[in-house]
Amino acid sequence: MSNRLGAFIVSGAGGGIGLAIASHLAALGHLVYGLGRDRAKLQGVASTFPANAFSFSTVDLARADETHATINEISLWLKSCGRPLLGVVNNAGIFDRLSFQQTSDAIWERQFNGNLLSAVRLTRELYPHLKAAHSSAVVNISSTLGERPIAGTAAYSALKAAMINWTKTLALEWAPDQIRVNCLCPGLVDTPIHDFHRLPANDPARVSAHQAQPLGRMGRPEEIAAACEFLLRSEWTTGTILTVDGGISL
Ligand SMILES: NC(=O)c1ccc[n+]([C@@H]2O[C@H](COP(=O)([O-])OP(=O)(O)OC[C@H]3O[C@@H](n4cnc5c(N)ncnc54)[C@H](OP(=O)(O)O)[C@@H]3O)[C@@H](O)[C@H]2O)c1
Repeated sequence: MSNRLGAFIVSGAGGGIGLAIASHLAALGHLVYGLGRDRAKLQGVASTFPANAFSFSTVDLARADETHATINEISLWLKSCGRPLLGVVNNAGIFDRLSFQQTSDAIWERQFNGNLLSAVRLTRELYPHLKAAHSSAVVNISSTLGERPIAGTAAYSALKAAMINWTKTLALEWAPDQIRVNCLCPGLVDTPIHDFHRLPANDPARVSAHQAQPLGRMGRPEEIAAACEFLLRSEWTTGTILTVDGGISL
């Protein structure tokens, strides 16, 4: 993205990794449009950002009709702010920890819609804006589980693996338009997506989550945001799968 100031879309910006990415981009002077289902969370985020730095729509990205309506809102926002769309971060996602025998069709469909089709659809609809920027980027937030799954995560891991593969196809297809497409695979990051996030620091579940990493601790959302900025900014990087995981996948 060189040093151009622009606009970015971040899905799941109401908390966790998405909020850290939105904050990181806003601190660099960019304008951010956040997407999420929870209005109160997004309003809370907007109130902590400088005026006009963070706009948002509430949307369930697993639903085609809601996503389509949101694209219209984003288009109006881009027009009014006068900034090029330099990047889209497909961060929104859901996690299920279930044995394979527990994963019903409904669970697989929920994971497919929530972790893959939602990002595919949003990215496809934003293509005209990304192309018009004459150098822009998509970052898909997958997971180390997409490359090295663990038991009890069949549907989540399979969809995160699909996201990695989709990233590479899209990188090839959109390279002629100077739209770079990369994938970021976080390891265990301490966010509300994990049940143990709200437990006290000395709870055994939290302690063992920290100890699972060779580096001895879980990641911080800000550390994923810094890696995301690299992928958004690096103008000769496309189709890359960047693992940021404290060494857990070694
Ligand atoms: N934390 C980790 O250890 C870890 C590791 C690897 C990968 N990841 C990935 O990183 C991404 C962010 O996760 P996180 O850890 O920051 O979890 P999080 O705090 O639970 O954040 C996930 C966000 O996604 C949004 N979201 C989920 N489904 C949505 C939908 N259908 N429509 C709109 N928004 C939706 C949620 O917004 P609302 O609350 O407003 O619905 C929430 O803000 C996810 O894709 C996750 O799979 C996380």
